Amino acid sequence: MALSTFLSLFKLSTFLLCLLILSGTTSGQLSANFYARTCPNFRSIITRAVNTAVSNEARMGASLLRLHFHDCFVNGCDGSVLLDDTANFTGEKTAGPNSNSIRGFNVIDTIKTQLESQCPGVVSCADILSTAARDSVVALGGPSWNVVFGRRDSTTASLSAANSNLPGPGSSLSALISSFSNKGFTANEMVALSGAHTIGQARCTTFRNRIYNENNINASFATSVRRNCPSSGGDNNLSPLDSTPVTFDNRYFSDLINQRGLLHSDQELFNGGSADAQVRTYSSNPATFSRDFASAMVKMGNLSPLTGSSGQVRTNCRRTN
Ligand code: HEM
Ligand SMILES: *[C@@H]1O[C@H](CO)[C@@H](O)[C@H](O)[C@H]1NC(C)=O
Ligand SMILES: *[C@@H]1O[C@H](CO)[C@@H](O)[C@H](O)[C@H]1NC(C)=O
Repeated sequence: MALSTFLSLFKLSTFLLCLLILSGTTSGQLSANFYARTCPNFRSIITRAVNTAVSNEARMGASLLRLHFHDCFVNGCDGSVLLDDTANFTGEKTAGPNSNSIRGFNVIDTIKTQLESQCPGVVSCADILSTAARDSVVALGGPSWNVVFGRRDSTTASLSAANSNLPGPGSSLSALISSFSNKGFTANEMVALSGAHTIGQARCTTFRNRIYNENNINASFATSVRRNCPSSGGDNNLSPLDSTPVTFDNRYFSDLINQRGLLHSDQELFNGGSADAQVRTYSSNPATFSRDFASAMVKMGNLSPLTGSSGQVRTNCRRTN
């Protein structure tokens, strides 16, 4: 081989290697170092605020994780869930799955205020949500994953998309599979992501039918949950989604095996159907669950972000600039 050919091959392979290294930290137009020059401390600001919020109230970690999910499943991770209603559009906060249910807005506001004072107009609300979700899981003892940045915020929200894209607690296994498949997730990823219900609480109205009318439920579990969820009234009374609601572990899956799923949709994952084997695997192998959950969360965070000059970086997460 001629020396010149060798040299050009060498250059080409160096170039390809650089591309490969870069692609390890970027996804689409999102990147790990997006704010490196414009707001170098943004991650520690978010992490500190999340840790404070979670130490004040452990459930807040669950609420912040759910906010990110409800953002990303409705027209992508664009901060739309945070917008209040305006004269021009009705936001997503009053959609069925969100109304009287999603929470954590004050924590996001606190983070946004701190970021605006350090680096005005730089860090998007959508990036705050994706980072806070990861930090919340870590704060409650769960796995970590790498978040990439550069999402921009929407200038509108969609009540109808929130109502149609977010799965409800009465869903069958096949409805859950198709709702996640509509967003590009496999059935296995849906089961892994459902493991988010290892933390947090649900309102009586979302599981009343299950604890009074279903048969695939442990009788002593049903009796104890009924105490705080009467057959009528008490709609907003809370029960934990699994038996260790402030620890991100794999207990959700062993609870399902013991017929102690709180929501109908939870127990659908272990009811003699195609997800049973995966539930058993996660219940006996926490590391497998952690790994699968983390990689599905990375994928969720990449759902159709606004990048480049699309959208805006809101200065107040509750309204457009
Ligand atoms: C598989 C389909 C899913 C259904 C049907 C579903 C449904 C629900 C329902 C009904 C609640 C209780 C809400 C309330 O009573 O106010 C809830 C809570 C929660 N969900 Fe899901 N969810 C699903 C998937 C997910 C995913 C993928 C995540 C996150 C990755 C998630 C995270 C949470 C968390 C953390 C809570 C507790 C929130 C808190 O305590 O504030 N859920 N979910
Ligand atoms: C609603 O839209 C009109 C026209 O586009 C605009 O002038 C007005 O500022 C908007 N109002 C709000 C509350 O965003
Ligand atoms: C329900 O759970 C209790 C433990 O709390 C257990 O003793 C009982 O055997 C379970 N019932 C069934 C039918 O599995």
